[in-house]
Amino acid sequence: MLSDTSLPIIRATLPVVGENIHEIARRFYDHMFKGRPELLDGLFNRGNQADGHQQQALAGSIAAFATNLVDNPDNLPDHLLNRVAHKHVSLGLRPNQYAIVHENLMWAIVDVLGDAVTPEVAAAWDEVYWLMANMLINKERGLYSAVDLNPDEIWRTWEVVERREETSDVVTFVVKRTDPRPTKQSLPGQYVSLKMLMKDGVHQLRQYSLTAADDGDHRQFAVKRVQGIQGAPDGEMSNLLHDTVKVGDRVQLSAPFGDVVLNYSNRPLVLASAGIGITPMAGMLSHTVKSDTDRKIQLLHADGEPGTFALRRQVEDSLAQLNEGKLDAWFERPDGTMAENEHSGYMNIDDVQLPEDAEYYLCGPLAFMKLVRSALIARGIPAKDIQYEVFGPDLWLADFQ
Ligand code: HEM
Repeated sequence: MLSDTSLPIIRATLPVVGENIHEIARRFYDHMFKGRPELLDGLFNRGNQADGHQQQALAGSIAAFATNLVDNPDNLPDHLLNRVAHKHVSLGLRPNQYAIVHENLMWAIVDVLGDAVTPEVAAAWDEVYWLMANMLINKERGLYSAVDLNPDEIWRTWEVVERREETSDVVTFVVKRTDPRPTKQSLPGQYVSLKMLMKDGVHQLRQYSLTAADDGDHRQFAVKRVQGIQGAPDGEMSNLLHDTVKVGDRVQLSAPFGDVVLNYSNRPLVLASAGIGITPMAGMLSHTVKSDTDRKIQLLHADGEPGTFALRRQVEDSLAQLNEGKLDAWFERPDGTMAENEHSGYMNIDDVQLPEDAEYYLCGPLAFMKLVRSALIARGIPAKDIQYEVFGPDLWLADFQ
């Protein structure tokens, strides 16, 4: 894939780029937003910019891709590319914006690494960037065309028709279509981007999993109030939604996207979630009920305490409507009496019997998914049968170091 000229140069410079990726990412964003401040109004998440780790996702994924080109060129990280492409189209990204990122990223590499970036080194990294960019652009073109929309057309206005407090920090919004143009049905596990005007007049976008199969006229999603920990700012979007959005208000939603979707099959299904990771699982269960399957489904869920388990009633209702639906829950702080299917502490899949030949979907914090995935692999579950959804930039994949 990589040309014979660039391959040895990338191999030789990957360690130094890797060591400096945080600084490259920081200067890249700084420089880009100074020159193009409009990118922070209705495209980039300014909350992510306050967090150095999250800033790393974009630049880090290019370094991860370069590592792949060097070490395993016949097996490119399709999962990573699909995830990014879906995220990009849910934001309405356009192909011509790739030149902006290119220019600023190359500037940051030179700014950080200085004279080490000879014209040959610059040309080799240029090649890596455009190999990846063109793959993304092609995938994104395919995704836009699959829903028959161009980037400017992904947004629709919806009216909030119901607001349900699920727990003290999770609220469900049900929205109704106000736009006469038809909308695409979502697939089980997909999300939408929500575009909101912040108090200072700047638009921000965030993605929320759909928690129910849509009926053409309604969509449903749940929002957890994000409280900044360790000095990070509170989530401005989630707080705005919690504090101000009420029945009758109008919101802008993108068409549904997301690559982690349920396969249509009859194999048993195991869904493992933690905390707000329950949301795509609720959507998958709702779709499964609607599709009238006799699939055996086991939901494994971990939460702080019974009172923080959002959407519990909804998922229990869905499981009850299935032929063989079963829930096991783990609580770090159980509150006294425990039912037979409740366990104390972190999720331990050794507490439960897993069905033969199942497909697995995981969603929750990265540490949770690494733990559960490792435990499943140790029990002999083939990696191909385990899919996962990460909320926020996917550092697991991007953290190539
Ligand atoms: C998100 C990679 C080009 C705008 C991301 C993420 C990655 C990524 C890894 C995080 C996805 C996740 O896990 O959530 C790339 C790569 C690019 C590229 C490799 C070029 C080869 C662009 C361009 C733009 C852009 C051209 C727009 C000018 C965004 C935005 C997000 C994002 C707005 C959402 C996260 C946030 O707001 O901070 N991209 N990207 N990307 N990308 Fe890109």
